Formats: sequence, structure tokens, C-alpha cells
Amino acid sequence: MGAEIHVHRHDPIDQINPTVYGHFAEHLGRCIYGGIWVGDDDRVPTEDGIRMDTVELLQDLDMPVLRWPGGCFADDYHWEDGVGPREERPTRRNMFWTQGRRDIPEEPNTFGTNEFVRLCDMLDTEPYLAVNVGNGSPSEAADWAEYCNYDGDTELANRRAEHGVDEPHDVTYWGVGNENWGCGGRLSPEEYAEQYRRYATYMRSFNGMMSDAEMELISVGHISEDWNRRFLDALAECSEWVESPYELMEHMSVHRYYEAGGDTEFDDEEYYRLLARSRLVAQDIDNAVETLGVYAPDNDISIVVDEWGVWHPEAKNTNGLEQENTVRDAISAAGVFDDFHERADVVSMSNIAQTVNVLQCLVQTDEDSAWATPTYQVFDLYKDHMGATSLETVVDTEAETVEDEPFDVPLVSASASEQDGELFVTLSNRALDGSEAVEINTDLDDASVVESAVLFDDQDVSEYSTDDNADTFEADDIEVENHGDGTVVVDAPASSVVSVTLE
Ligand code: AHR
Repeated sequence: MGAEIHVHRHDPIDQINPTVYGHFAEHLGRCIYGGIWVGDDDRVPTEDGIRMDTVELLQDLDMPVLRWPGGCFADDYHWEDGVGPREERPTRRNMFWTQGRRDIPEEPNTFGTNEFVRLCDMLDTEPYLAVNVGNGSPSEAADWAEYCNYDGDTELANRRAEHGVDEPHDVTYWGVGNENWGCGGRLSPEEYAEQYRRYATYMRSFNGMMSDAEMELISVGHISEDWNRRFLDALAECSEWVESPYELMEHMSVHRYYEAGGDTEFDDEEYYRLLARSRLVAQDIDNAVETLGVYAPDNDISIVVDEWGVWHPEAKNTNGLEQENTVRDAISAAGVFDDFHERADVVSMSNIAQTVNVLQCLVQTDEDSAWATPTYQVFDLYKDHMGATSLETVVDTEAETVEDEPFDVPLVSASASEQDGELFVTLSNRALDGSEAVEINTDLDDASVVESAVLFDDQDVSEYSTDDNADTFEADDIEVENHGDGTVVVDAPASSVVSVTLE
């Protein structure tokens, strides 16, 4: 018997915030320099230094939000280094990412705030800035907010205008540090809570005064519940004198990376192990939500998974965290998105690490061209979920168990959403052998199939894209059998991802 998917249209979960399909681009390896910014290098078409082959690929994804400048880099970044005439900007050491260099790694600062926001404008995406808590200060962070968002007559607002940007950037999303339990200063949860109160107080006072953009602050959470508990507990230490300490944040972040075997060399067991481990993302969200429910039950603080994805052993500091990205990785991303959709009521954003060339990237580049990875194709196939209403979806399927892993691997993963009168179902058949006749049950009695597509029908799970073959990873049409009573059946090939749109 094949798998069954039951879509409960009368059990809506919540709107899938478009920002769940967000990205992350750090000054690390060839993500920014080389992948996005090439300056005067004319081997590829550019617009004022930004390479357009990368931009054109990303434009097709309707990227909703882009996090920048890090990552660990953010906690050693001083934003004033990256504004003003480029030839006058200082070169600084980059504390974190050696990028293969033997001597001290350097940051030229040619790509700074205004270049970043210009990239966001080209992509029609929301900027998300992470401020420096590690070796910065609350006033530096508040100044950055003023430089970006104020439209009055202050020195910083005027400086932005002198730098060629009259209109404020209206940046909504602000991360208060990054992994401050680790690279961002090795703070204890109590120390971070103290810093968080100071930063949030000074940044927060801008709300409604500095700009029309409501600023939303994102605190640094952890996959360890102990950190989250102690941080949230200590945050309230001011509550004897000031009300509502939890109103200082709109979101709390978690990061999760996973691996099993190598990037292209892995056996069947490691294939399933990676998929089992990708389910940790959902567990992290559930744990963080539970803790927030204890400390701030009335505050509607949502979860931002602002770094997630596969981090293979081949991606090292010395090679700028580059790895090959295979069909296996892409299939794992499809499952993570299904988990995000199931939690649409609590997950407000996610940012895959990272957009270009680094870790589970969506675009890879060389000096002459840019091409899409298999993970890009999943983002592309899934994009109709953005902004749609997530629907309760029950999957009846067999599962693969993996020794020593806390989760098994349901062989079919799926999610469904509804928007503008259309029902959009995505599913993956994760079995390595054999196609699966998957029955999708809905209550759309006279449903017709608008569109149906399949990814990776022709590829092995260890295949990855190159400049020469990237188009072979694009979606193909797939036949769907319509029973006419709200049930359709699709024969999903082994290790493939499928989408079906009904109306
Ligand atoms: O994405 C690479 C690094 O992973 C980020 O800089 C850091 O936040 C995380 O540990």
C-alpha cells in the first residue's frame, strides 16, 4: 500500500509568514566578496559592483528577507567602517573567517550598509541587520538604527544623505547579537540578558519616533533549553522597577546545523541519518516555544530560525565553509519546510545558511558564472507556500529507523497550504528505492489539478549541480491521477520532491 496524505482544510494552522523563506549572507569566504560583490571585475555583468548573474537567480525566488552581515562576523563588525566613499573605508582584520589565508584575514569594507540595502532593493527583499553585541556598544547599535531609519535633521541622518541615500532604509528586523553564548563574546545567559536589556532599551526607544518602520528585535536563543531558561529568567531581573521586560523582544532565535557522512560521499544509512537529524530543527522550535510559554506566555514572542541547514565536514574555515550541495541536502530542506509549515503559528522567520557559495547555499559561483543548487530548486518549488494559510496535514507512511537517532524518518513528508482559492501540496518521497503511489485526500469534491511538478526524478541523491548541468535539476511536469472526489494520486519517484496545485 502507498502513503496517504490527509489535508484538513477546516483545520488552518496560521499564515505561513513569507519570511520563513528567508536567507542569510555573511562576510565569510565567497558569500559576499566574489559571490555577490565583485566591484570592478567585469568578467560578469554588474550593477555598481553587484554581480547580476547571482541577483537574477535570486530574483526568481522572491526572497522575502536577507540577514546580514553575520553570523559571527556581526559581533566584530563596526558599521561605520562600511559607509561613505569606498576608497576611504578602512581595511580591518576579520576575526572569524580566515578564508584560506595564512596571514591575517582582511575585510575591505567595500560592501557595507548602503550596498547591502541596494542589494535588498534589487531583490525586493527586507533587510535584517544583526548588531554587534560582542565588542560593540548599545550606542553604536542605536546609531546604526538612526543612520538607517531616521528621516529628520540629525548628523547621522544627514550623513546617510551625504552618502547618497536620502530616504531612510526603514529596516524592520534587528538581531541583538549573534550566538553570544559562543563566538559573540562567550557570555553566560545572565550576562547576555544584561546586555540585551541595554541594547534593546536604546534601540527600542526609536520605535515610532525615528521612523515609520516598526523595529522588531530578535534575541539570541539556543538549542540548549538551559540557556533559554536562564536568559529569560535573568531578563526579568529589572521587573521590580520596570514593567514588562519581555516586551523588549518580538522574536527569539535558534540555530541548527546537521551532518552525516560527507558532502557527496555517504552510504544509505548516512542518507537517512541526515534526514533524521534535520528533524532536530522542529524539536528546537518546540522546546523554545515551551520555554517562552513558561516565562512570557502573554507576549507573543515568535521563533526565528536565523541559521539552519547542512554543514558537512568538508566545509571548513580554511575553505570559506564551502561544500558540495547534493540532492540529499535539498530533500532534507523540503522536510524542514514541511516542519516549519506545521509550526506556522510560532515560526515567524527562517534564514538558510547561506545564500551564496557558503554551506547549504542556493547559488554557487565561479569567476564567470553563477548557477542554482538542488536546494535552490526546493525553494523555487515551495514558494507558493509563502503567505498562504498552512493546513493541518496528516501523513500516513512507513518510516525508516536509524540507530542512535532520536527521530525516525517518515518515508513521505508533506505539507499543504491554501491561498487565493488554490490548495498547494508539497511532498517528498525520501525512500531510496522505488517510487511511491501517494494518495492526497482533500475535501475539494470537484478538485481540478492546476499544476504538478517533480524534482530530482533523474538524479541520484549524491548528485550536485555545476555550471554545466544545473538546468537538469529544474522541475519537470509529473502526471497526477484525479479521482474527481477530492482525491488525487501521484506516483512520486524515489528520492524526489513533488508539488501539486489543486483548485
Ligand atoms: O554560518 C556560519 C557560522 O555558523 C555563523 O557565522 C555562526 O553564527 C554559526 O556558528
